[in-house]
Amino acid sequence: MKPLRSRFEKDTDSKVQKYTESISYDQQLYREDIIGSIAHARMLSQCGIIGWDEVEKIVEGLNSIREEIQNGEFTFDPALEDIHMSIETRLFEKIGEVAGKLHTARSRNDQVATDMRMYAKDAIFETIVLLQGFQKVILDLAETNKEVIIPGYTHMQRAQPILLAHHLLAYFEMAQRDIDRFQDCLKRTDVLPLGSGALAGVPYRIDRNMVAKDLGFAETSANSLDAVSDRDFIIEYQAAASIAMMHLSRLAEEMIIWSSAEFGFIEIDDAYATSSSIMPQKKNPDVAELARGKTGRVYGNLMAILTTMKGLPLAYNRDLQEDKEGFFDTVNTLNSTLEVFSGMLETVKFNAERTGKAASENYTLATDVADYLAKKGVPFREAHGIVGKLVVLAISKGKELTELSLTDYQNLSPHFEEDVFSITSQSSIADRNTHGGTAPKQLERALKIARRKLNE
Ligand code: ARG
Repeated sequence: MKPLRSRFEKDTDSKVQKYTESISYDQQLYREDIIGSIAHARMLSQCGIIGWDEVEKIVEGLNSIREEIQNGEFTFDPALEDIHMSIETRLFEKIGEVAGKLHTARSRNDQVATDMRMYAKDAIFETIVLLQGFQKVILDLAETNKEVIIPGYTHMQRAQPILLAHHLLAYFEMAQRDIDRFQDCLKRTDVLPLGSGALAGVPYRIDRNMVAKDLGFAETSANSLDAVSDRDFIIEYQAAASIAMMHLSRLAEEMIIWSSAEFGFIEIDDAYATSSSIMPQKKNPDVAELARGKTGRVYGNLMAILTTMKGLPLAYNRDLQEDKEGFFDTVNTLNSTLEVFSGMLETVKFNAERTGKAASENYTLATDVADYLAKKGVPFREAHGIVGKLVVLAISKGKELTELSLTDYQNLSPHFEEDVFSITSQSSIADRNTHGGTAPKQLERALKIARRKLNE
């Protein structure tokens, strides 16, 4: 008979075993499970609940199991359901009956919640480091392309000239908010559930603070029912991950259109592009496309866990086992996307000539001409109307605004003088010298602040 089946007359049906097992994916929690068990065992002996000699055997056994798993010498048996039962069963094989003392004052319910929180904390740290790496690449790219001008868009139509660096720093800001969200989520993840037992606490004088300290948790959970059934920390990570992926997918989309022949703003490095199986001329931005595409599965994982938790009564229910695969997938997807995306950005080349030309064409300086009139006392709305007519005239003549004559201008308003021709992309950009604007002076400040933030 398999473990935990003393009250049954037969083993589970093989279909049931296959349906209910989690070992195929929770085996990656082996490190957390073993570290958690060692801390628990040490505390039990410290509190006089099990003997010193017993704990020594248990710890030695657990450490050698960790090595077996690390070296790929451990065979996971689906009949043993999950990582907790697999390790415990192996411990019995190694050290005999004393292994049975490890599960004193503990349930798999507080055990799995502890494992998941340890895993989540590591995931958060890793994601934050990768987000900072992404920020660094963005910042380096902005600093080495400080003079590059691109058209800024609204409604996907050329709107006003801006500095490329200003555009890039928008993504630095997004990544900063992402980091803040993960740091905030860490506070609520950093709580130890172990010691909550199955649902109601445990009937032993245990020292939960000792375990928390040992495992690096900031505090112990305040309510045992909540502790074994709370998965908010997983939802929060996934929500923050969804927002981070959404940001990456926006940049991905820009890289995709910027690399098209129509735009020709960037050249993605060969190492980050792929080819077509039929069209030999193709150079495809697959990394950016997949980053955009994988955002979908990250959203999906968030929806899945929210839906699993909806209407779930207290306390532990087996539904909670469904917290794992989507979470692992989201952590892997976000972290690998950040890594490969940063590599792609590190090697991308901008075509400054093309972006600069695009930025000054198609009447992108029309707002500046209207502002020119407004600064001479013409109400802005009226100025807007005058320049609108000027644009229509230019279109009818097939010319840019700078190619019209001063007479053309003065026919529409007597306020126009020769100096209207000194409006350029550069002057337009320099004029937007307000906090958060695209002017070089603002950019220098923004770059400095960003660099300081990164070095904190
Ligand atoms: N594999 C289970 C999970 O992931 C572990 C907890 C099982 N607890 C129980 N009472 N069956 O949630």
